[in-house]
Amino acid sequence: MNRPSDGELVAAARAARERAYAPYSGFRVGAALRTDQGEVVAGANVENASYGLAICAERAAVAAAVALGHRRFEAIAVAGPGPDPVTPCGACRQVLREFPRGVDLEVLCAGEAGERLLVTTLGALLPDSFGPESLQPPPDPPGHPPGIPRTPPASS
Ligand code: THU
Repeated sequence: MNRPSDGELVAAARAARERAYAPYSGFRVGAALRTDQGEVVAGANVENASYGLAICAERAAVAAAVALGHRRFEAIAVAGPGPDPVTPCGACRQVLREFPRGVDLEVLCAGEAGERLLVTTLGALLPDSFGPESLQPPPDPPGHPPGIPRTPPASS
């Protein structure tokens, strides 16, 4: 399979944007992930009469990709309305941070048409981030017997 170019990834995000369900905000967003294998998986925002339940395009794309068996993403393109690039919201930045490429994910932000593109990385959008590796416990200090908790369990 030919690896889709960044331009093709933006085009996929714009095509998904056309399918967004955004009757409340009118702010239609599309997103397209490119996997390490070169597959493209898109998503669009999905709003709800209970406004707070809106799903962003980026998270819709992540959910679709994971359901298809993909977790290794190298880039995401996001396309919103108007000429200016739309950047992922904070919650979506954190969700994207979860996957193997982490802060090195390439993020391509676009408007609905035209050439204007913000090309950045997740690390630039989410500095000093918290990720899966942040949950690893620190190593035992020298001389501490392996497998023995450093603090005794609380007595009941
Ligand atoms: N939205 C996205 O889908 N992605 C973003 O990066 C920004 C915001 C959606 C959520 C909501 O449906 C609408 O845009 C307005 O906030």
